[in-house]
Amino acid sequence: MATSPFGASSTTDEVLAGVDLTDRTAVVTGASGGLGLETARALASRGATVVMAARDDGKLRAAVDGVGAQVPGAELDPVLLDLADLGSVRAAAEAVAARHPLVDLLVDNAGVMACPLGRTADGFELQFGTNHLGHFLFTTLLHDPLAAAAAEHGGARVVVLSSGGHRMGGIRWDDPNYERTDEYFNWDAYGQAKTANALFALELDRRWSPEGIQAYSVHPGMIITDLGRHLRAEDLEFMASVRRTDERSGGTGAISFKSVEEGAATTVWAATAAELVDHGGAYLEDCHVAEAVDDPAATHGVRSWARDPEAAARLWDLSERLVG
Ligand SMILES: NC(=O)c1ccc[n+]([C@@H]2O[C@H](COP(=O)([O-])OP(=O)(O)OC[C@H]3O[C@@H](n4cnc5c(N)ncnc54)[C@H](OP(=O)(O)O)[C@@H]3O)[C@@H](O)[C@H]2O)c1
Repeated sequence: MATSPFGASSTTDEVLAGVDLTDRTAVVTGASGGLGLETARALASRGATVVMAARDDGKLRAAVDGVGAQVPGAELDPVLLDLADLGSVRAAAEAVAARHPLVDLLVDNAGVMACPLGRTADGFELQFGTNHLGHFLFTTLLHDPLAAAAAEHGGARVVVLSSGGHRMGGIRWDDPNYERTDEYFNWDAYGQAKTANALFALELDRRWSPEGIQAYSVHPGMIITDLGRHLRAEDLEFMASVRRTDERSGGTGAISFKSVEEGAATTVWAATAAELVDHGGAYLEDCHVAEAVDDPAATHGVRSWARDPEAAARLWDLSERLVG
């Protein structure tokens, strides 16, 4: 097990204290708000050039201005990226690769949660399409700059934001895009997408680590951000009911929230911690490698369906077929 001096209440700046990212390039998706914005700020503050990718031009410009004001002299490169549109994903990856021949860190952070049934431009279910398939294509198109950075700098990393929400379900192999059912449950779809994020990191690491590119998935904790924009009263009750079954939460249903700086800490730890070199593919939470836990009542740890190498390989093949 990787030892770490950090934990649930560590912040981005604590994790990165003393880390020098000068001459390193990081790409962060969903950098216009929440955890992605804090991740971009924290990496830039240690000297990294940060490509800030997001879909809303106005929000992206405001985010770049905000980081620029907090980190004087920061090297920031805004890129428009809509993960729910594969045409946009291809254009964004092309722009990034053209401007940055070396990409040392890629943080697949953007995401949507528990939204009503929706479709991406290419017809995929919105959560699976945005959170997983868009990132699958974006990441695989950035293979060459990641490999070039790995060769030049002795390693590159991909960090994929998963979630404790992966515990709500595995991959719906027979119908991942909800095309053959009228029964859509927003949390099952989020669970599938977040399981896909963890499996993607596992298979990416298996395939690309021989070239020096390692991958990790991350549960950041629970943080109040715009991610909750789709939540209705019944969703909040559903979340509390899940907590009530767990002894570690005291069975009260109460949710303990992290600050944004605490939430993004595991991401920057995954991106930089030397002690993770021997843990490629791991799912991380609270700045540690997560325990494997299959107790259905537990609200921590990683479930076996998100750690299954066969499922990870199968998801890669499925994703390749779907994105063409
Ligand atoms: N917050 C939590 O408690 C929590 C817990 C577990 C896991 N996570 C994971 O952490 C990640 C970041 O979440 P957050 O809490 O920071 O949420 P957030 O504040 O809503 O930020 C999400 C980011 O993703 C972007 N995004 C959404 N759809 C996109 C698309 N189609 N193309 C490109 N960008 C898109 C958003 O842009 P717009 O604002 O323009 O939509 C925003 O920049 C997500 O993957 C989430 O699943 C968060």
